[in-house]
Amino acid sequence: MIEGKYIGLVGGGNMAEAIIKGLILSKICHPDQLLVSDIRPERLDYLNNKYGVRVFKENDVMVSKSDIVILAVKPQDIETAISEFRDALKDGTLIISIAAGINTAFLRQCLAKEMPIIRVMPNTAALALASMSVISKGPYATDRHLEMAETLFKAIGETLVLPEKMIDAVTALSGSGPAYVCLFIEGLADGGVKMGLSREVALKLAIQTVFGTGKLLKETGEHPTILKEMVASPGGTTIFGLHALENAGVKGALILAVEEATKRSRALGRR
Ligand SMILES: NC(=O)c1ccc[n+]([C@@H]2O[C@H](COP(=O)([O-])OP(=O)(O)OC[C@H]3O[C@@H](n4cnc5c(N)ncnc54)[C@H](OP(=O)(O)O)[C@@H]3O)[C@@H](O)[C@H]2O)c1
Repeated sequence: MIEGKYIGLVGGGNMAEAIIKGLILSKICHPDQLLVSDIRPERLDYLNNKYGVRVFKENDVMVSKSDIVILAVKPQDIETAISEFRDALKDGTLIISIAAGINTAFLRQCLAKEMPIIRVMPNTAALALASMSVISKGPYATDRHLEMAETLFKAIGETLVLPEKMIDAVTALSGSGPAYVCLFIEGLADGGVKMGLSREVALKLAIQTVFGTGKLLKETGEHPTILKEMVASPGGTTIFGLHALENAGVKGALILAVEEATKRSRALGRR
């Protein structure tokens, strides 16, 4: 439980809702400690009714009451949002940004004062409280700030601390990863349909197989190669399937996907 601190979210969209839900469910803070501002009144009403958080139409009024401010607007709205609340920030307020592609040097420039800044790259699985969130320390942030960010983001899944220079690769792997996994699931399900399974059954089998394998790898800590070899018995069905995948270059395509997405992230990023 975080005692006596107020956590403000600028932007009350999908990611903000995931964070609010996670923090309340994990009892890291009380709904009274959560403040949200958004330009959409209907989002504020919804969040207030559903979670009991305090809501504000003006960003500056909200941040003036916050000890930690989480920037949860779209990357293109970051600069405007900061300009709306910058002068209302209390000294020492921790700024945490989850905006994809916005680096801490740019945030520091927009804030135009010495505020501790942390950058976090979560992924869409945050909506199921199963995010992989990578946390990077920015200007003026201390280890204490980093610990605070870890505590907050553990409420929506797993966290890992890495230097900011790794964030483009992180964006390409765990940030974009849910889309790659969806493509993989779609492919498995289409294969099942081709072999006569109903669409509904094929999709259920594919989703649970990916979920279960991830859970197994996580719980056992076993390397994927070991588990793969456990399933592929000599002359059995799996080794035939694996051969088909290797022939089609699936592993090479995944490596390339992360490489290309990293290059794109570098090109788009504000550095
Ligand atoms: N979704 C993901 O999987 C994911 C993963 C990693 C990182 N992120 C990052 O998380 C951030 C939020 O994403 P999201 O999907 O939650 O976005 P979202 O659902 O669009 O939420 C953003 C909210 O902020 C509002 N807003 C816009 N300008 C504002 C301002 N000046 N002041 C206050 N509120 C404002 C938006 O209103 P309007 O809709 O009217 O503009 C919207 O309600 C993004 O920066 C994104 O890069 C998202």
